Amino acid sequence: MTHYAGAKILVTGGLGFIGSNLARALVAQGASVTLVDSLIPTYGGNFFNVEDLKASVDINICDVRDPYAMRHLIQDKDYLFNLAGQTSHLDSMVDPKTDLDINAAAQLSILEVCRHHNPAIKVVFASTRQLYGRPDYLPVDEKHPIRPVDVNGINKLAGEWYHLLYNDVYGVRACALRLTNTYGPGMRVKDARQTFLGIWVRLLLEEKPIKVFGDGLQVRDFNYVDDCVAALLLAGANEAANGKVYNLGSREVINLNALAELMVNVNGKGSFDVVPFPADRKAIDIGDYYSDYSLIEKELGWSPQVGLRHGLEQTMDYYRAHSQHYWDND
Ligand SMILES: NC(=O)c1ccc[n+]([C@@H]2O[C@H](COP(=O)([O-])OP(=O)(O)OC[C@H]3O[C@@H](n4cnc5c(N)ncnc54)[C@H](O)[C@@H]3O)[C@@H](O)[C@H]2O)c1
Repeated sequence: MTHYAGAKILVTGGLGFIGSNLARALVAQGASVTLVDSLIPTYGGNFFNVEDLKASVDINICDVRDPYAMRHLIQDKDYLFNLAGQTSHLDSMVDPKTDLDINAAAQLSILEVCRHHNPAIKVVFASTRQLYGRPDYLPVDEKHPIRPVDVNGINKLAGEWYHLLYNDVYGVRACALRLTNTYGPGMRVKDARQTFLGIWVRLLLEEKPIKVFGDGLQVRDFNYVDDCVAALLLAGANEAANGKVYNLGSREVINLNALAELMVNVNGKGSFDVVPFPADRKAIDIGDYYSDYSLIEKELGWSPQVGLRHGLEQTMDYYRAHSQHYWDND
C-alpha cells in the first residue's frame, strides 16, 4: 500500500504502543508524520518506541485536552489517527473524571477543531471491544448490545459516537475500529495497569511466575500489533469506512491457562499460578470474549495475518533485547 505517500498525518498517542507502530508503517509509505503525546508517566507513551523514527517524524509533547494546541496541529493535516487515550480499566474506576476528560471531552473538542478548521480531514478512531461488556453471545459482532462494565468503556463509547455523529451531521469523515486485546513490541509491560499480557511478559523475563486470575478458562482473542496497524491504514484509506464501526479480532481463540502455557513454552522456561481474582478486577471482568470480525473482512478486506505463537515470539524477543527501556528505569 502506498496510499499515504506525501500525505500529512497526525497521530495522537503517537509515542504509545499502537501509535508508534502505526507511525513506522506510515513513514515507510513516505507520509509526513506528526506525533502528539502527553507522556503522562502512568500511560503507555515511551520515547524509546520511536527511537528508530526520531529523524523521520515530528514529535509534539502536548495534551489532547488542550484545544488550542490541537487546533494548531490538526488544521493542515490530511489524516488524523486518533489513538490517544487513558486505557486502564482499573484506573478509570479510581479516577473516573480524568478518563472522562481524555476519552470523551477531549474527543469532542478534537472533532470541533476538525469541523471548524479542517472539515476535509479523515479521522480514524481507536475504539475498544470493552464497550460490549459481558457478552450475551459469541462471537460478538457489531450488532451485539452495548453494555460497558466500567467507566472506561462508557467514555470510549462516547468518544466513538462523537466521531460517528460528526461524520453523519457535519461531513467530517470518520470511522472507528473496536480493537480487541492487541499485543506486540512497544506495549506497556511495566505493571498490570494496561493489558495483563504486558505484565506477563515482564514476569516471564524476570523469571517470576505469571498470575492467571479466576479459573483461567476465560477465552480471549488477540491481535498482533502489525495486524491492528494494517486495519487502521485500511480504514483511513477507504471511503467505504466513513461513518462505520468495525470489530477487529482473531480466528485463534484461547483460554488464559492455554495462553500462559504457550507463553512459557515460547519463552523456553517459566511457570504460572492460577489465583483468585482480586475483587476490584472481578467486578469489571467481562468473562469470555471473542469477536466476529467478518464485517471488516467483507467491506475492507482485512483479516489478521500473524499467528499467536509467532506474534508472541516477536514480542518476547523484543523485550528480551530492550527491557531496560521498559522497566529498568523504574
Ligand atoms: N492495546 C489494546 O489492547 C487496545 C484495545 C482496545 C482499544 N485500544 C485503544 O487504542 C488506543 C491506543 O492504545 P495503546 O495500546 O497504544 O495504548 P498506549 O497507552 O500505549 O497509547 C496511548 C497513548 O496516548 C497517550 N495519551 C494519553 N492521554 C493523552 C492525552 N491526554 N494527551 C496526549 N496523549 C495522551 C499516552 O501517553 C500513550 O502514549 C487507545 O485509545 C486505546 O483505548 C487499545
